[in-house]
Amino acid sequence: MASIIEGYLGKRVDGTRSRMPARLDRWQSATGVFLGLFMWAHMLFVSTILISKDFMYAVTRMFEGSFLFSEPHPVIVALSVAFVFAVFIVHAGLAMRKFPYKWKEYKMLKTHAFALRHGDTNLWMVQAFTGFMMFFLGSVHLYILMSNADKIGPFASSDRVWSEGMWPLYLLLLFAVELHGSIGLYRLCMKWGWCNGSDARAARKRLKKAKWIITVFFLTLGLLTLAAYIKIGQEHRSHYGERYHPAAALVLPYSPVQEVRS
Ligand code: HEM
Repeated sequence: MASIIEGYLGKRVDGTRSRMPARLDRWQSATGVFLGLFMWAHMLFVSTILISKDFMYAVTRMFEGSFLFSEPHPVIVALSVAFVFAVFIVHAGLAMRKFPYKWKEYKMLKTHAFALRHGDTNLWMVQAFTGFMMFFLGSVHLYILMSNADKIGPFASSDRVWSEGMWPLYLLLLFAVELHGSIGLYRLCMKWGWCNGSDARAARKRLKKAKWIITVFFLTLGLLTLAAYIKIGQEHRSHYGERYHPAAALVLPYSPVQEVRS
């Protein structure tokens, strides 16, 4: 009954405030931290193509369970993508609460941002915009990988990037995700006071600098990586669909079996 009254009147019967908005905020932060850290790890794994095709192949095989099984199990990758996709959807759903939906709300936000000339408010606008882009770009990428978990590797990924025309989407997604992720982690540190120390002003300055260094680092790494997949994809286009066979048996730690994929 109390919940029905709150639903109709927007007020609790005992006059206290609901803790739900704070709980939702905490979940938004938790899913954001997970996705932000995941993206750093993701970029490092994907960029192994810059070291060599064999190394990227070995990393792919590791995610397919090569350290446990003799046969590749792409279902492990599909399940991992499904999990990340679920977190991605929850995070997007929670973040939507903050979007200015109506023209009037948007106009007020823009006017305030212009009047304030506050760097962090502008960063918030960038974050909302890149988050909106990722609804579409991120979902396409995640769904394609989930349904093609057995087609990840030096040639299979490069064929997808070039011959299947994914590179424009990856280029946009790269900028969206790197800006969104680094701004998000910076804002979380400021919001929850994780790195404040005794001087919040000095901490903000330090964090902002770190944020830009991280953004530039991951954007550069991402662009170089995308260029590498494009180059391999172009060279491989006449053999589109052919899978990679490692030149050397590269053995990762705790990997009892490294067999050649057919
Ligand atoms: C478990 C989930 C994920 C897996 C297994 C995965 C795997 C991959 C792989 C293998 C590539 C290389 C190209 C290809 O094979 O298509 C790639 C590229 C990329 N992924 Fe993901 N990805 C995942 C989640 C995400 C998410 C959540 C985002 C951001 C919303 C993202 C953003 C990107 C971007 C921007 C690229 C291009 C990289 C570059 O330009 O260097 N990925 N991903």
